[in-house]
Amino acid sequence: MNEIHEDEATLRSAMLERLAAMRGAPLAGNVADAMMVVPRHVFVPEAPLSEAYGLGVVVTHWDGQGVPTSSASAPGTVAGMLEQAQVLPGQRVLEVGAGTGYNAALLAHLVGLSGSVTTIEYDADVADAAQRHLAAYGVDRVRVVTGDGTLGAAEDGPFDRILVTAGAWDVAPAWVEQLAPDGRVVLPLRLRGLTRVVAFERDGAGLRSVSVIEDGFIPMKGIGAMPEKNVRLGVGPDLTLRIDDAQPVEPALLQVLDSDPALEWTDVVAPWAWTPEQDFWLATLPGFCRVFVNAEAVAKLRVPPAKDPWGAWGVYSSASLAYLCSRQVGGTDQMPMLQVGACGFGPDGAGLAQLLAARVRLWQEQAAGVELTIEARPLSATPLPGEDRALLVVDKVDHVFAVTAISTNTSSRSSATAT
Ligand SMILES: C[S@@+](CC[C@H](N)C(=O)[O-])C[C@H]1O[C@@H](n2cnc3c(N)ncnc32)[C@H](O)[C@@H]1O
Repeated sequence: MNEIHEDEATLRSAMLERLAAMRGAPLAGNVADAMMVVPRHVFVPEAPLSEAYGLGVVVTHWDGQGVPTSSASAPGTVAGMLEQAQVLPGQRVLEVGAGTGYNAALLAHLVGLSGSVTTIEYDADVADAAQRHLAAYGVDRVRVVTGDGTLGAAEDGPFDRILVTAGAWDVAPAWVEQLAPDGRVVLPLRLRGLTRVVAFERDGAGLRSVSVIEDGFIPMKGIGAMPEKNVRLGVGPDLTLRIDDAQPVEPALLQVLDSDPALEWTDVVAPWAWTPEQDFWLATLPGFCRVFVNAEAVAKLRVPPAKDPWGAWGVYSSASLAYLCSRQVGGTDQMPMLQVGACGFGPDGAGLAQLLAARVRLWQEQAAGVELTIEARPLSATPLPGEDRALLVVDKVDHVFAVTAISTNTSSRSSATAT
């Protein structure tokens, strides 16, 4: 591997310092060491050094509509996943989504000379670039495979660690089959449109999370792809609903913004319209969706949803829609205190707004001091004990996922339910 060049080492060290400051905590020692040694700029050769050692995503490929199809994930995302994976020297690791090859190089550093890394990339030109970057860096313990990572790489398994760096909608059976008995699989999992990076370990016939972190990823391609549906409402279009799990949309919904809004305010006040895990309390509602608006629509709608890259949360029915909104009730312009409410449209808009608001209130009662646990069982396996009391249960093609909110207060380890 290349020697550390002093100027670039300074840039890497500064990147790690900014990362630690952003997270409010230093990185795990082995992950920081790997990120200090591996030159990120070699894996994003088109990017200026300031971008290569910045804290953002470096997009490397786009589709014809300008949507990113491959990138070097943000350093914070990369570090978080590696920490969740707890990779040890000598381990055999599979990565799905080679991208630039940067994470594979970090994994090679973590497993050391006695370990191995196989990384699969769906797009052949991206795989070629990853191969070139790894060769330029001088690492030879990584095998780059062009193919569909949903099928894994049985010939190199079983794997102690599997890291999926594209957004998954389900846990592919191959990942479970190719995982060593005490292995760990880390993947960004989308449930009802909400993505969490989950570190799973085996538990009986299924998997149980040991760590859950919120983040976003480029979606999975190939046989595991399950795109969300975008439904545009209004003439602008004024608003876009993003819908997961193939929930149907009736034509009457397309005119819903023509009606007068109905508002329902809660007494929940937070520094951001986003409040931790509130989305999972709302995702239990039928018709749960995310709502996106552009600046023009924000100016046009009397009570707009939050203009947020992750979207505001909403619910829809056959001809009605409600979304979360907020209004400033204190704080400063930089750190406003926002009261959370819901705004509804259509014949049942008021009812849906009340339903959303009721869930926000329930979240406030139940969510303080809880951690989400996610369990996955094969579709054919018998239901998990307590599955009927879970916060959210989502059936997919290969697995059923149960999300439970467990109290972190050790004197009363109760679980919350969104009844
Ligand atoms: C966020 S990028 C990965 C970042 C990468 N790990 C790095 O260090 O640069 C996601 C990558 O996953 C790839 N991908 C998506 N679906 C895939 C699949 N089914 N099999 C393999 N790779 C896939 C995409 O083409 C893209 O290059």
